Amino acid sequence: MTNSDRPNRNVNLRIDLASIRHNLNCAKKFAPNSKIIAVVKADAYGHGMINVLPALQKADAFTVATLEEGAALRRSGESKPIMVLQGFRSENQLYDCVTLDLWPVIHERSQLEMIANKSISNLSCWVKFDTGMGRTGLRVSNAGSVHRRLTASSVNVVGIMSHLANAPNVEDLANDRQLREFNSIKWPEPVSRSLANSATLISRRDMQFDWVRPGIMLYGACPLENTDVASLGLQPAMRATAPVIAIRNLARGQRIGYGGRYQCASDMKVAVVGAGYGDGYPRSVPDGTAVMLGNQRCPIVGQISMDSMIVDISSLTVPPPIDYPVTLWGHSQLPVDEIAALAGTIPYEPLCGIRGQRHWIDATTERNVRKIVEDLSTH
Ligand SMILES: Cc1ncc(COP(=O)(O)O)c(C=O)c1O
Repeated sequence: MTNSDRPNRNVNLRIDLASIRHNLNCAKKFAPNSKIIAVVKADAYGHGMINVLPALQKADAFTVATLEEGAALRRSGESKPIMVLQGFRSENQLYDCVTLDLWPVIHERSQLEMIANKSISNLSCWVKFDTGMGRTGLRVSNAGSVHRRLTASSVNVVGIMSHLANAPNVEDLANDRQLREFNSIKWPEPVSRSLANSATLISRRDMQFDWVRPGIMLYGACPLENTDVASLGLQPAMRATAPVIAIRNLARGQRIGYGGRYQCASDMKVAVVGAGYGDGYPRSVPDGTAVMLGNQRCPIVGQISMDSMIVDISSLTVPPPIDYPVTLWGHSQLPVDEIAALAGTIPYEPLCGIRGQRHWIDATTERNVRKIVEDLSTH
């Protein structure tokens, strides 16, 4: 399957559903007693929300950020529960949640006011409390009154939830402070709980509760600081490539790219690769950031341009032909985490930001088909 959110550009994004399926199984192994709400917001972190659904069939529910994302997911035929993190911002949206059978998250007083004086027994929601993140969520001390108001409107509360601010740093004591705060919520009746994102469900059994909400790990990027994705057994699902558009010989002393940031220390051969920050590749990466030509790492030299980047290929015995696909990330030796760290950001940002021709493949199916063909040819 192919589709493109930047059809006229060069970047190719190969998204492997088998890896996503594998990563979901890993999440289940890490949290065997919890239900899984697979986080597919921001177009499944750039992997294509609707197209990755076949790989997430074993999830119990889905999480999106906006009502519009939830509506698109429902329209695609998805029948599992869909949690909408931002909930609703108007009465119309409140009724859309009912019609579309979505689970809005109640995180803000105005939402309680919209519900007041109504009877909405066909609305199921989650209630989010701010346990220390300081972003969205009601006050923990208001749990009793929130419960009263929702009960008065006959709203069904599926569960209560919160979100950690420092989950990637497992040593951070702020995580424990948030857990204590979460455990202190006095909800007047038994209710399901959810606290863990990817980092938390991997690192803290005591925070897994009834439902876990993995996002980034499903796509095979690393949720934890000072850990590499391979050691967690996760498989990167996206491989980003772009073609060689020119090969140049540059002389010692010559400067490369905008601002002349890089100066050739000796005569060099470079490849110009047709992808840049206009495609969502981070401009902030330093000289030396790697791309892969086949299994060979080659360093980027000079500033990333809008449509291209320049790569030192002096170490290659044979230069690549024009149009040769260069891997920007997603090779087993070049995870997106490495590029993100060098760009001073987290892997979520380049994954969500990259644009190009997207192709969804299923390596398991491909392997199986190849095997069937091989078996047939040997008989
Ligand atoms: C409330 C909430 N839960 C879960 C997640 C998933 O987090 P991660 O992608 O780190 O697993 C997010 C992501 O931003 C979130 O905002």
